[in-house]
Amino acid sequence: MEMPDRTMRRQVLLFISILSLASVLCQVSYSIPEEMAKGSLVGNIAQDLGLEIKRLMSGKAKIYTRNTDEYIELSRERGVLLVKERIDREVLCTETALCALHFQIILENPMEFYTVTVQITDINDNSPTFEINEMKFKISESAISGAKFVLERAVDLDVGINGVQNYELKPTDNFALKLHNNADGNKNVEMVLQKPLDRENQEQISLVLTAVDGGEPQMSGTMLIVITVLDANDNAPVFTQPTYKATVTENSPKGTVVATVTASDVDQGSNGEITYSITNTLENVRKVFEVNKENGEVSLIGNIDFEKSRHFQINVLASDDGGLTDSCKLIVDVQDENDNKPEINIMSKSTVISEDAELNTVVTMINIEDKDTGENGNVKCFISENLPFILKSSTNNFYSLVTDSELDRERASEYNITVSCFDEGVPSLSSSVTLTLQISDVNDNAPVFERSSYEAYIVENNTPGLSIFTVKARDADWNQNARVSYILEDSSVNGVPVSSYVSVSADSGVIHAVRSFDYEQIKDFHFRVKAQDGGSPPLSSNVTVKILIQDQNDNPPQVLYPVQTGGSLVAEMVPRSADVGYLVTKVVAVDVDSGQNAWLSYKLQKATDRALFEVGLQNGEIRTIRQVTDKDAVKQRLTVIVEDNGQPSRSATVIVNVAVADSFPEVLSEFTDFTHDKEYNDNLTFYLVLSLAVVSFLFITCLVVIISVKIYRWRQSRILYHSNLPVIPYYPPRYSDTLGTGTLQHVYNYEVCRTTDSRKSDCKFGRAGSQNRIQSEKNILDDPDSPLEVRLSD
Ligand SMILES: *[C@@H]1O[C@H](CO)[C@@H](O)[C@H](O)[C@H]1NC(C)=O
Ligand SMILES: *[C@@H]1O[C@H](CO)[C@@H](O)[C@H](O)[C@H]1NC(C)=O
Repeated sequence: MEMPDRTMRRQVLLFISILSLASVLCQVSYSIPEEMAKGSLVGNIAQDLGLEIKRLMSGKAKIYTRNTDEYIELSRERGVLLVKERIDREVLCTETALCALHFQIILENPMEFYTVTVQITDINDNSPTFEINEMKFKISESAISGAKFVLERAVDLDVGINGVQNYELKPTDNFALKLHNNADGNKNVEMVLQKPLDRENQEQISLVLTAVDGGEPQMSGTMLIVITVLDANDNAPVFTQPTYKATVTENSPKGTVVATVTASDVDQGSNGEITYSITNTLENVRKVFEVNKENGEVSLIGNIDFEKSRHFQINVLASDDGGLTDSCKLIVDVQDENDNKPEINIMSKSTVISEDAELNTVVTMINIEDKDTGENGNVKCFISENLPFILKSSTNNFYSLVTDSELDRERASEYNITVSCFDEGVPSLSSSVTLTLQISDVNDNAPVFERSSYEAYIVENNTPGLSIFTVKARDADWNQNARVSYILEDSSVNGVPVSSYVSVSADSGVIHAVRSFDYEQIKDFHFRVKAQDGGSPPLSSNVTVKILIQDQNDNPPQVLYPVQTGGSLVAEMVPRSADVGYLVTKVVAVDVDSGQNAWLSYKLQKATDRALFEVGLQNGEIRTIRQVTDKDAVKQRLTVIVEDNGQPSRSATVIVNVAVADSFPEVLSEFTDFTHDKEYNDNLTFYLVLSLAVVSFLFITCLVVIISVKIYRWRQSRILYHSNLPVIPYYPPRYSDTLGTGTLQHVYNYEVCRTTDSRKSDCKFGRAGSQNRIQSEKNILDDPDSPLEVRLSD
C-alpha cells in the first residue's frame, strides 16, 4: 500500500534532479523511510542518471562517501542503489528533523561523478518513554487547591508527528494536568491539585501519566505517580456519645471505675493522640472524680455520698496534640446504700412522772430521721414489752411515748425505756436510746401495822415509864408520805382515860407504862394505836393493842382457918377412939395472887408428936396417922406452914391446937394449965362459932365453884369439839379463883392437851411456874401455827 506513494515521491525527486542535472550536472535525490530491510531498493540510479549498465561496468562506478558506515550499496549489474545496512534515522540523525545521506557515485574512463542524496524519512518506531517509571510525591492533606507539581516529561526518539504529542493523567479525581509549550517545542507537564486531599479518606493515591505520540499507529509510554497524603491535624477528636450515663453506689472505694468515655481522632500520630481531662469548674466534681488522661476511664478519687449529692455531671474534654477538642457529658447517678442509721431526736421529755398520771399521758416526744431514701430510710420504732408505756406513731416519723397502764411507784419507781429504731434496708441499721423515767410518789398507801393486833405482857409492880413493847407500822410510800407517827387513840379503861395507863412514842411506836400496874386490880386492858403518815392528806390505820398484866408473887398466903386470935385458945377435939386417918381439921388459906403464886401447899412444921398427925400437902387436912392411945398427951400443938408456889415463895404459919380427949372437961382441965393460953380461952367460944360459920361458908363456896367449873369445862369441850381442835385445859385440883372474878385465869400452871383426834390425845404439858413461856388459849384457838411474840417485863 505504501509503495505507490513512495514511488510517486521518488518520481517527483527524480524530476527535480533531472532539472538540476541539466544545469548543475547530475544530482539525484532519493527519499526512503528508515528501517528498510537489507537489499531493499533505494532507486534505479542508472536510469535516473541516464547511464548505460555498460558504462557503469566499464566506468567501475562506485560510491564515494566520507562516512565510515555505508548504508547504501551500488549494484552495477542492475544499475540500482540498495540498502546495505539497516538505517535507523534516530541513530543517524538523532533529533534532526531532516535526515539525509549524502554520497557521490564516481565513474572512471572518463572520470565523472554524480551526487546522490538519500533522504531518510522517520517512521514511528519509538514510543514515548519516561526516564523513570515512577514518581513519588508526599503531599500534605492541608495542601490547597491549585498547588502545582512538576512532572517528568516523556521522550520520543521519533520526530515530528511521531514525537510526544500529548499527555494524560488518570484518575482525575484530585489532580488535573497542565501543559506548557516551551520555546524548544517541548512541553512542560504539571499536575495541579483540583480537590483537597483527605488522608483519612485515602492515604495513598496512585496516578498514571500517559504520554502519547502522533504516529500511526500511535504509541504511548506511562509513568506511575504515587502520592502519599501527609496528615494534617484537620480532625478534632470525637466522642462516641455526646452524653454518657453511669451509676455508682455510694461509699464505693476510691479507684472504682465509674465509666469510660471514648473519643476517636482520625488524624495520625500526635494529631490523633487524645488526652482526656475534666473541665468542670466546680471543685466538688474534681475532688471526687478523675479521668485517666490516656484511656478515658473515669474513676473515683473521693468519697461519694448519696446524701450529699445524688447526681454528678462531669464534663470531659478530649483534645489532640494539635489543640482540637471535643467534649462530652458524663452523668453519674449515685445509688443509695443503707449507710445511715436512723437518728433518734428527743424533742421533749419528762424525767419524772407522778404515779397517779392519767392514761395516755405523753412522757416523751421523739423525732426519727434516716438520711437514706426508700426502704433504707423507712424507720420503725419499738420499745421493750411489758412496760406500762406504748410508743404511738404519728405522721412523719414523729413518735410519742405515752402511759398505757397505771403506774405504781411502790411496784416500780423507775423505768428504763429503750426505744429501738430499725430501718428497712438490707441489712437493716438500727439505733436506740434509753430514757430513764422516775415515778414520783403520791400518798396512796396507808401505813400498815406489822400485825393485825398486838398482845403484850407486863409484870405487875412495874416501874412507871417502863417501855412495854413497840408497835411498828410501815408505809410503802416515799419520804414524807412514808413518815409514820403513832398516836394513842382515846378510850377509857375502867372509867379512866387510857392515857393514864400507857403512852405511845409518836416517832418510835414504843409503848410505855405510865403507872405501876397491880395484877390484883387489873389483869388486862386494850386500846388502839393509830399510825398516820405525813402525806397530804394523811392516811392512817389503827391496831388494837392488848396489854396483859402478869402476876407477881407479891401476896403471902392468908390463913382463914383456924383463926389465929390474939390470946384465945382454940383447939380441935380428937376422941381417943379415933381411928387412923381421922380428920382432925382442915387448914384453910387463900392467896390473892394467882396461878402458881396462889398454889398453896401445907406442911407440918412442928408438932408435939410428929408420929400422930399429918397434914395433907395439898388440901391442908390434918389427919391422924396412927391409933390414938391413952398415953398420948391431951394437948397437942401443931405448927402448919402454908406456902405458895411463887418464886420466891411466900408463906404463912398457923398454930393448930389439938385436944386428945374424950370429954370437954378433960380438955378444959388440960388447957387451963396453959397459963399463957388463958387469954385465948375468953374468946374461944366466939372463935369456935366463927370458924364453924366460915367452914360452912367455904364449903358452899367450894360447891359453887366446882359446879361452875364443871359447867365451864363442859361448854368448853363442846366448843372445842365443834371447832375440831380439842383443847382440854386441865386445872390443877388446887385451882381456885380466889378473887372470884368469875373468869378463867390463863396464866401459869396448866396443862394443855392438843390433839387432832379427841380420842387419841397427845398431850403436852406446860411446865408450871418456872417457865415464862405462855400460850394463851385464845392464841392457840386462833392460830396454832402463828409464832407468838410475847413480851414479858420484869
Ligand atoms: C436503769 O439504768 C440505770 C443505769 O444504767 C441503772 O442504774 C438502773 O438500775 C436501771 N433501772 C432499772 C429499773 O432497770
Ligand atoms: C380503826 O380501823 C378500822 C379498820 O381497820 C376502822 O373501821 C375504824 O374506823 C378505825 N378506828 C378509828 C378510830 O380510826
